Amino acid sequence: MSMPFIPVASPLKQYQAHKHAIDEAISRVLLSGRYILGDEVAGFEREFAGYLGAQHCVAVANGTEALCLALKACGIRAGDEVITVSHTAVATVAAIELIGAVPVFVDIDPVSRCMDHTLIEKVISSRTRAILPVHIYGQPARMHEICEIANKYGLTVVEDCAQACGARISNKKVGTFGHAAAFSFYPTKNLGAIGDGGCVVTDSLEISEKLRALREYGWKERYISSEKGMNSRLDEIQAAILRVKLSFLDEDNARRRTIAERYSHAVDNLSIIPPYPLPDTEHVMHLYVVVCSARGSLQEFLKERGIGTALHYPRAVHQQGAYEGRIRGSDSLPVTEKLYERILSLPMYPELLDTEVEKICIALAEWCSSQ
Ligand SMILES: Cc1ncc(COP(=O)(O)O)c(C=O)c1O
Repeated sequence: MSMPFIPVASPLKQYQAHKHAIDEAISRVLLSGRYILGDEVAGFEREFAGYLGAQHCVAVANGTEALCLALKACGIRAGDEVITVSHTAVATVAAIELIGAVPVFVDIDPVSRCMDHTLIEKVISSRTRAILPVHIYGQPARMHEICEIANKYGLTVVEDCAQACGARISNKKVGTFGHAAAFSFYPTKNLGAIGDGGCVVTDSLEISEKLRALREYGWKERYISSEKGMNSRLDEIQAAILRVKLSFLDEDNARRRTIAERYSHAVDNLSIIPPYPLPDTEHVMHLYVVVCSARGSLQEFLKERGIGTALHYPRAVHQQGAYEGRIRGSDSLPVTEKLYERILSLPMYPELLDTEVEKICIALAEWCSSQ
């Protein structure tokens, strides 16, 4: 009997793996009668801050708003320049523009695929206020170096941790390096809700208080807006589900790494180049992305064998219609642009069966030997 098609991600399998605990958590919320900003959100904020080693966590509606609110709470305003990368989900750049700030791109480092810190100083101007690195695919960006540059120029650092829950540099988790950090709990993320969700973490009490006000109409006191805010709250149901999943996160990340090691062992490092996690970092393999110059052929070969693939992403942000030619920074981003011609994401989620991983490894090795 042939195996069913293996997708790139499967939030359904994650639900099925923890069905009993998740159903119990949902029903606990339903019966509590409190559906917005109650004990579950407060509990998740406490537990997630504790997990990361951060002082404060403020849960919000999604990762994009987490980025907007983090930037705002750190004092970034319309017209300020924010240095970031084009190799990211469009949400990173959309968030900067949503608050009226100006994204300025630097290229990436080809090995880590994260911000190339050696290029930052070249684009700093009198209007630069912040640096927004992205821990893409689960690989921590070079935070020590980035924070050193930020300190030298008095800039704010906001980390985009949407793809990197639990990733570390030595023993320090991402999200605890900058002034604030944004997380997304979109269902396919390595800590995923069953719907939208996000949060901001920070060690600053002042920033956390600002965030709590901004996420709820600028209220410090109920029904009284002391500043302009919005509605960006995490639902109680999502918080209860995230508390269940948080308790499995380290185990899930370890399983992702085991699968990644097996894939990396199966490829030839020539026709398929695997991700190389930076030394002294713990990559969480939210996505397993290879570089392959014959990408189309590999994609077709895997598809014929019932193995799904995807592009993260089909185009870099500055190559998309809405952003083309509008973003300041380098004239071209050669490393980013070259990468986008060759990247391919393979199936990666903790519930992949050993037999499925084996099947993928055999297919990868077979394709490599045919090159
Ligand atoms: C790097 C990155 N930043 C930001 C976001 C935005 O998160 P959300 O989809 O929860 O708004 C995502 C996820 O889509 C992401 O991958």
